[in-house]
Amino acid sequence: MAPQDHGEDIEALLHELRRFAPPTDFSAHANVDASIYLEADRDPEAFWATQARQLSWETPFTTTLSWEPPQATWFGDGRLNASVNCLDRHLEAGLGSRVAYHWVGEPEGDRQSITYAQLHAMVCQAANALTALGVVAGDRVAIYMPMVPEAVVAMLACARIGAPHSVVFGGFSADALADRILDAGAEVVITADGGYRRGVASGLKVQVDEALERCPGVRSVLVVRRTGQAITMAEGRDHFWHELVETQPATHVPQAFGAEHPLYVMYTSGTTAKPKGILHTTAGYLTHVATTHRLVFDLKAETDVVWTAADIGWVTGHSYIVYGPLCNGATSVLYEGVPDAGGKDRWWRIVEEYGVTILYTAPTTIRTLMKWGEEYPMAHDRSSLRLLGSVGEPINPEAWMWYRRVVGENRCPIVDTWWQTETGGIMITPLPGVTTTKPGAAMRAFPGISVDVVDHEGRSVPNGEGGFLVVTKPWPGMTRGIWGDPERFVDTYWREFEGRYFAGDGAKRDDEGDLWLLGRVDDVMNVSGHRLSTAEVEHALVAHPAVAEAAVVGASDPTTGQAIVAFVTIRLDHENSDGLVEELRAHVGQVIGPIAKPRSILITPELPKTRSGKIMRRLLRDVAEHRTLGDTTTLVDPAVVQMIDDMMRASSDDE
Ligand code: PRX
Repeated sequence: MAPQDHGEDIEALLHELRRFAPPTDFSAHANVDASIYLEADRDPEAFWATQARQLSWETPFTTTLSWEPPQATWFGDGRLNASVNCLDRHLEAGLGSRVAYHWVGEPEGDRQSITYAQLHAMVCQAANALTALGVVAGDRVAIYMPMVPEAVVAMLACARIGAPHSVVFGGFSADALADRILDAGAEVVITADGGYRRGVASGLKVQVDEALERCPGVRSVLVVRRTGQAITMAEGRDHFWHELVETQPATHVPQAFGAEHPLYVMYTSGTTAKPKGILHTTAGYLTHVATTHRLVFDLKAETDVVWTAADIGWVTGHSYIVYGPLCNGATSVLYEGVPDAGGKDRWWRIVEEYGVTILYTAPTTIRTLMKWGEEYPMAHDRSSLRLLGSVGEPINPEAWMWYRRVVGENRCPIVDTWWQTETGGIMITPLPGVTTTKPGAAMRAFPGISVDVVDHEGRSVPNGEGGFLVVTKPWPGMTRGIWGDPERFVDTYWREFEGRYFAGDGAKRDDEGDLWLLGRVDDVMNVSGHRLSTAEVEHALVAHPAVAEAAVVGASDPTTGQAIVAFVTIRLDHENSDGLVEELRAHVGQVIGPIAKPRSILITPELPKTRSGKIMRRLLRDVAEHRTLGDTTTLVDPAVVQMIDDMMRASSDDE
């Protein structure tokens, strides 16, 4: 019988049995020991100030924190430049010849190793090019790129001249891109003709062209030639990177900016259809990501090869491919494509070839690799690996164990790291070499971070009980706001529990006080580690002429964590044709991007509603997960949801 059939007791027993003390040889050389928790607890602000002093400041700060909830100012009177912290200071320290990135393109053999000195020169050229295009400090620049070195260069060039970047994931549609450009008020877009994914050249410039039909404010577009595909260039507006950037001088005198100068805006899904522009500023963010990167990954910058296998279009890429590793002078792998491009062992070839020591990825990828079978990792030398990390969604104990046993040969500590776009960097995690780990638990707050698990009234719940995760003290990497919407910032994060940050996640402390994350408690879905709101997908569906109403839920899925399941009613003047479901899926892909395509769409005559007209998503989630229906007494007509349940079961039987 499967363990879960025994219910909670056996689960508890399993957790009891499965715990992994830090390997002693690892602890002997770890960057920290347990005293760091005591030190940070004693005076969290002093702890962060010590970390911040490791950055390079043009004007050192004299004040650490000013906190007027929900506005925090960290290191407020200091001045610095983010790109100097990522590049120039390493050159000054004589590290110019160290590799910053081993870039691996998806097509076999497409590769380039770029040193800190080379990256610095590229960034200087790009900064000069942006200046030539009239970009000045404070202007927003949108970046819509594949995973190529120029994407990092573009980000750092913006940071160098104080222009906040807004990177939009290359998998988003033209519409989604246009929404983000408009919201951020970006006047310059940096893109590429396309990129390689799943063996084909995708088109990015063509999406930019379509998006810009709605964005008259965009005056310049910089285009990297990646695939050589045919594209149209608008005279006067569009410039090729190799013509405008690569002809610029490779030196650039940077200017220092205030500690709270905006560094970037990253859009993420909330509970409404409109994505939120999460703002991060300079010094606090850099302090947070550099510190966590150094301590959570036990970084030894001289020897480690770090592979954060995420996309630069998401916050994980910003914090742990770009800013954290570069601040620390680390060497990273930057891989363009999907894990099975050129064979299901592609990842393990990269690990072997570059001697990757630290691998950081999402549970959804681990589960996919697990599904493919252990023969692929086993066929390659993984002895270089010494630490494994997980991020983006709760990791199920089976995936955790597979990661540990197969990928990490039972010797590498695993860090399950909880954080969010809004938190900037890692918040809850084990410390390798220090923390005993449990499969599926993120364990405890990082030093200098204070969290709690509370009930509806905001009271701490005892160990063993679930509740809402809150952060109780300000931290350096915290978002400073939602771009252009201060009210939504307060409403979303700060209203629920006065003075504390409401993360939107459920959590539980076990009997030993260790933290387990339980997933979102709002209408935000987590599909393959991508964050999407149910409202966003519903909005896309009702924009189709055939759809009258739509309700979307996130149903648990063995590979993607959650999958999107939609229930729609169609307009009276439309036929429910055979191809309609496919058409609707494609339509959602067109409006938001392929990641948002529902796994299934059920066309039903009605949706279950309460007497006040609210759609009961809770019951639809029961339907989507093939569970017994919950309480239906508040519905106008309980027969409706029963009918939907029958239809769903019949359609799954057909599959
Ligand atoms: O629900 C949590 C989940 O991902 C959400 C944040 O998503 P995003 O802003 O896109 O950032 C993802 C990368 C940091 C959280 O609210 N999440 C993230 N990491 C974990 C997690 N859930 C459980 N365990 C984690 N380690």
